[in-house]
Amino acid sequence: MSTSEPGRGVSTDAVGHAYPRLEGREKVTGTARYAVEYPVDGITYGWAVPSAVVRGRITRVDTSEALASPGVLAVLHHGNAPRLAPGPEPELWLLQDPAVHYRGQYVAVVVATSLEAAREGARLVRIDYDAAPHSTVLTDDHPGLYQPDHVNPSYPTDTAEGDFDAGYAAAPVRVDATYRTPAYHNNPMEPHATTAQWRDGRLLVHDSNQGASSVRGTLAELFEVSPEAVRVVTEHVGGGFGSKGYAKAAVVLTALAARHVDRPVKLALTRQQLFGPVGYRTPTIQRVRLAADADGRLTAICHDAISQTSTIREFAEQTAVYTRSMYAAPHRRTTHRLVRLDVPTPFWMRAPGECPGAYALESAMDELAIAVGIDPVELRIRNDTEVDPDQGRPFTSRNLVACLREGAQRFGWTDRDPTPRARRDGRWLIGTGVAGSSYPARARPSSARATARPDGSFLVQINATDIGTGARTAIWQVAADALGVPPERVEIHVGDSDLPTAPVAGGSMGTASWSWAVIRAAQALREKLREGVPPDGEVSATADTTDEVGGQPALPRYAYGAQFAEIRVDADTGEVRLNRMLGVFAAGRVVNPTTARSQLIGGMTMGLSMALHEEGLLDERYGDWVNHDLATYHITGCADVESIEAHWLDERDDELNPAGVKGIGEIGIVGAAAAIANAVHHATGVRVRDLPIRLDKLVGVSAMA
Ligand code: MOS
Repeated sequence: MSTSEPGRGVSTDAVGHAYPRLEGREKVTGTARYAVEYPVDGITYGWAVPSAVVRGRITRVDTSEALASPGVLAVLHHGNAPRLAPGPEPELWLLQDPAVHYRGQYVAVVVATSLEAAREGARLVRIDYDAAPHSTVLTDDHPGLYQPDHVNPSYPTDTAEGDFDAGYAAAPVRVDATYRTPAYHNNPMEPHATTAQWRDGRLLVHDSNQGASSVRGTLAELFEVSPEAVRVVTEHVGGGFGSKGYAKAAVVLTALAARHVDRPVKLALTRQQLFGPVGYRTPTIQRVRLAADADGRLTAICHDAISQTSTIREFAEQTAVYTRSMYAAPHRRTTHRLVRLDVPTPFWMRAPGECPGAYALESAMDELAIAVGIDPVELRIRNDTEVDPDQGRPFTSRNLVACLREGAQRFGWTDRDPTPRARRDGRWLIGTGVAGSSYPARARPSSARATARPDGSFLVQINATDIGTGARTAIWQVAADALGVPPERVEIHVGDSDLPTAPVAGGSMGTASWSWAVIRAAQALREKLREGVPPDGEVSATADTTDEVGGQPALPRYAYGAQFAEIRVDADTGEVRLNRMLGVFAAGRVVNPTTARSQLIGGMTMGLSMALHEEGLLDERYGDWVNHDLATYHITGCADVESIEAHWLDERDDELNPAGVKGIGEIGIVGAAAAIANAVHHATGVRVRDLPIRLDKLVGVSAMA
């Protein structure tokens, strides 16, 4: 089928088709190269040494035993490492001073001729510390609670509209509940890993990150070289989920080590070393108060969120921002408070803010539905709004209600008996739950280049990053349509900072941002081709969308979804199992159904994991997560996912960007945990308000009221 976008002259033959990933064959045959898989002559191996204390100073580093160990070339630490410029990211100012700010901070790197020798050398490094007292546990009465100036990325910290206290006090139906979420740890399949080589003052790194342009800029600043002297290659990346959104410790340590030993160095963090220092989802304590009239129309909403940051950098997660725009009410208030703890700085993890925030609000909506005696799907439909309650402007498109209706129909919600514990199958109590979902649909400026070659083929170049999502394939499809040629005639190059600058794969903005630049470059190329072809037959055009993206009217723009879950709970042991999960999303145009589905069910699965399995357990005595490996930090596995379906509406929204996409990397996780928690309540009559819903919180549920 062929359609066209009026006024844009862009045909859409390739967009919408389920092309297999361009790099699929390379990946399944093992020829795709990740950051530490490039063969390099004279390679050496780095091994990071984490601090053994939480807070304090290093008083002595004894490297003699390590240096005497076979194969060890060097031990870098604050006393001998190359100097870095103090940059905007204090976390990356590594091996520069003896201060220790959190347990697990990388305080030394051993470089050796083999991986085994480096690891053994790391074991032999002796470090003495002068340890200071620490505080590492978030509580709602922590003396260090404060109000940050803004929350990520630049939202107001608190908002207020109407008079919440009066509105709440006057309402006939009220819910006041506090929800807690633990630390969640990003565990991409490929750890943070880098190969670094210095040649003639130039730095080449093959690195696992979500945006090589930004990493190049950070390295240039830290090592005080021009950005042109740094090249960052990210040809294939094995996942990031936000933790690789910026330059992180591994790339800095590896570049430092390579400069120090004057040889190429490979360094991959171990699985255990990822737990904390690469960033994690902050724990949260969230109080939600909802008030409604007897018909379930919200009159007052308040969401007070508490989360943590480190002592070296402020990371103020926007936990309650979801609540500002999701449902309407005349009286509304949101607040954020932070505590600086002696912990690694929290960082992005899939839908940072929206994901934990939606867990709280969408759980509270379920509690309200019960309090007011209205079906939870209907309650959400009744409180829908075409105007963003926060900004007072209409949404570019808002299909929450359509998602709820289609989801209810597909899931088989209609005949649901709302009574808790109404369904039982032998020892299993069965329940169903629903939650709304939304995620901002933004875009960032990007550049791209399109080239027509004499043989009739085209080359499209953009420093986009395919972190495993299929982004490379999606922009190739967009490029083909924009060029007006079959995709087979288009070659696409991504993942290299020498290509035209592009923003990170993050915030569900990748495809929107990159497509925009690719479409503009293709249009510019077509213009040029109309003017004629030079004798060598090659014509190139570059586009930069900075002005166009920056000049966009700031209309509220979001993707929406409805999450449905059916679970069963063992009445005696409290074990929770998922029967099925179904999501319906409205996320603009879907470029590639195969990769889109994979993103959506991936997000939903991660939400299941958040609800039932994942939990960073911190031991205050050591200031460290005790379950810092995949044997003890539980992640949903295939056997936990019996049935999971993602569907989407055919949504057209021409206000967004030339490709009409809203982004799908994060919407799938938002609301998923609430749908499961709500289903657990429906099954058991027990409301678990602190994730994860472990069996000990439900054990003996058969005897509970
Ligand atoms: Mo995502 S947490 O924006 O990489």
